[in-house]
Amino acid sequence: MLQTGLLPVLADEVIAVFHQCIRRPHTALLGSMVLLASFYLPSAQAADIAAGKAKVENVCSACHGLNGISVADHIPNLAGQKPEYIAAQLAAFRSGARKNEIMSVIAPQLSKADIENVAAYFSSQPGMVPGAVKSAMLPNLTQTRVTFPANYRSTFKRYHVLNLPDSKQVKFYYANQVAAAAAMAGKPLPDGSEIIVENYSAKLDAAQKPIVGQDGYFIADALRSLATMQRGANWGKDIPEMLRNEDWNYAIFTPEHQLRGDPNHAECLACHKPAKDASYVFTLGELGKAKSAGADTGSK
Ligand code: HEC
Ligand code: HEC
Repeated sequence: MLQTGLLPVLADEVIAVFHQCIRRPHTALLGSMVLLASFYLPSAQAADIAAGKAKVENVCSACHGLNGISVADHIPNLAGQKPEYIAAQLAAFRSGARKNEIMSVIAPQLSKADIENVAAYFSSQPGMVPGAVKSAMLPNLTQTRVTFPANYRSTFKRYHVLNLPDSKQVKFYYANQVAAAAAMAGKPLPDGSEIIVENYSAKLDAAQKPIVGQDGYFIADALRSLATMQRGANWGKDIPEMLRNEDWNYAIFTPEHQLRGDPNHAECLACHKPAKDASYVFTLGELGKAKSAGADTGSK
């Protein structure tokens, strides 16, 4: 999510911290400020542009493009950006001074040398020219081994429902028996696990407010999409380690059960990575608490 207006504020914040570090003795500083400053200050060693390019090619290009022109409007271009700015933003994501669901996962996996190298590489790329086209997404991060679980309504367990008041939507979560049995036994979800989430628009009343059913959940109206995650042996082998979720693959399907080619799975993977200890499933707790292993397809 691009938060317009946030960037100048954060840049000022970083620069302010940096200046403070120069003025004040290090002993008086908070640990995070020292960390920020040490990442921000150029080191004695020259940056290695080729090493930076290799890192970008493997990971960052999935979103920012190999040439620093990003793959989508909500992802910033980095081509021609000042290396100090890039390094300062990565340091801020690392320290938590700047937060983003994706970059807060990626930046802490970069070493100080990585940061200098990728910053030098991106800044060496020609900046955005008028009419420049967006970069293509990476094939290994758009392809998926996920297949549509045709009979999930009758064979999967419905284990969770979530109201989304802001977007006036409601989501229904289903897991297959392999996933449900493991979760209820407190075990990591094994290969063969499948989870699918139906995303509906909520039925609205005359005042355009979602109608709430007796169970407290919004009444579903039109199905918008189906989000799935499935895992199988070696399914993650083509995914760079910084993004990889072991052997999970992701996919989005249309209401007609057609695979959508537009989602960038780098985003699914990066965002789900913090749920590593929960088999990459944010709602694992709900699945583990599910009452019985029998299918429960609900009313809708
Ligand atoms: C899965 C997609 C994804 C990947 C992979 C990714 N980024 Fe990002 N990056 C983003 C998004 C989205 C933002 C915007 C964050 C925000 O709005 O605060 C961003 C922002 C940034 C920024 C701040 C740019 C600015 O204008 O302030 C830098 C620097 C950056 N990324 C560097 C990297 C580097 C280096 C890598 C590889 C190691 C990388 N990113 C990999 C999605 C990604
Ligand atoms: C911005 C972070 C973010 C991104 C990007 C993201 N997810 Fe999720 N996902 C979540 C969170 C948080 C939940 C749990 C709550 C919810 O469903 O909103 C979730 C839940 C899920 C679930 C149910 C299992 C679980 O983890 O609880 C599936 C399946 C899923 N996402 C698939 C996808 C797919 C496919 C993509 C990429 C097209 C994707 N997600 C991208 C954050 C994200």
